[in-house]
Amino acid sequence: MRTTIKLKHELFNDHFQNSKRYQIKKAQLIIADIPYNIGKNAYGSSVEWYVDGDNKKGESKLANSEFFDTDKDFRIPEFLHFCSKMLLPEPKETGKAPCMIVFCAFDQQFELIEEAKKHGLNNYINLVFVKNSSSQVLKANMRVVGNCEYGLILYRDKLPKFNNNGKMIFNAIPWEKDTKSEKIHPTQKPVKLLENLISIFTDPGDVIIDPCAGSASTIIAAIRSGRTAFGFEIKKDFYRLAQARIENELAQEDFFRSVPVLMTTQGTLLEPVEDEVLL
Ligand SMILES: C[S@@+](CC[C@H](N)C(=O)[O-])C[C@H]1O[C@@H](n2cnc3c(N)ncnc32)[C@H](O)[C@@H]1O
Repeated sequence: MRTTIKLKHELFNDHFQNSKRYQIKKAQLIIADIPYNIGKNAYGSSVEWYVDGDNKKGESKLANSEFFDTDKDFRIPEFLHFCSKMLLPEPKETGKAPCMIVFCAFDQQFELIEEAKKHGLNNYINLVFVKNSSSQVLKANMRVVGNCEYGLILYRDKLPKFNNNGKMIFNAIPWEKDTKSEKIHPTQKPVKLLENLISIFTDPGDVIIDPCAGSASTIIAAIRSGRTAFGFEIKKDFYRLAQARIENELAQEDFFRSVPVLMTTQGTLLEPVEDEVLL
């Protein structure tokens, strides 16, 4: 029997800690770009610290400022508790298990790995996203400057769903700059990168949750990939801009909103039929 899954894309202007209010579905994949807890040093090694990037012109308004005022006391244990509850349970079969991908500061990886184990997320794979430029130009006299972002894949016991035609991928992943999206958030992630991750770790129709949605790049990537996505963003200003971005995307891409899939008579989801999936 051929049937159609209606996709949903919703952003909530709330703490992910309040998610019970919204009764959202559990996720095959959680993508989270967590606040880096760097407070007022957000632009510490960036040329943006100075007016026009020129230290002779004095400090800009970004000197001693935060990326956003939630970027200082993010609680990793609460975050992992939420994620462990919202990931789908381990399936009986192999090759279908859910996982989460966390973008984080280098130092946060250690706490994330240890705390994740307390929530049954016993395994990790570290990721490095490699840029071809560095924002740490003020460190140039130290010779070594950062051109990477860091992340972790966290999963329970079974290996996560992995769709790459049987081919492996490297854990150092190229970071292509997103020149197409309007920049509405200081730490906005490239949509294409998120689309790639989504296509590897989920199937069309799967559910993705982003607990720290910012500009809603994850939701935009999910819309473009034919996946359902839910996001949380506490800052009203970011939420408004992100919500407008989602509405604009949905208005343009209306046909992405439902994905035909094959169901057995028992209602078990089978692999989507390639030529029927509108991707
Ligand atoms: C690093 S940014 C995410 C940027 C996002 N990946 C993007 O591409 O735009 C983290 C976001 O999480 C939000 N945030 C922090 N704590 C939160 C919480 N408890 N619940 C929901 N959002 C939160 C912050 O306001 C911030 O916008």
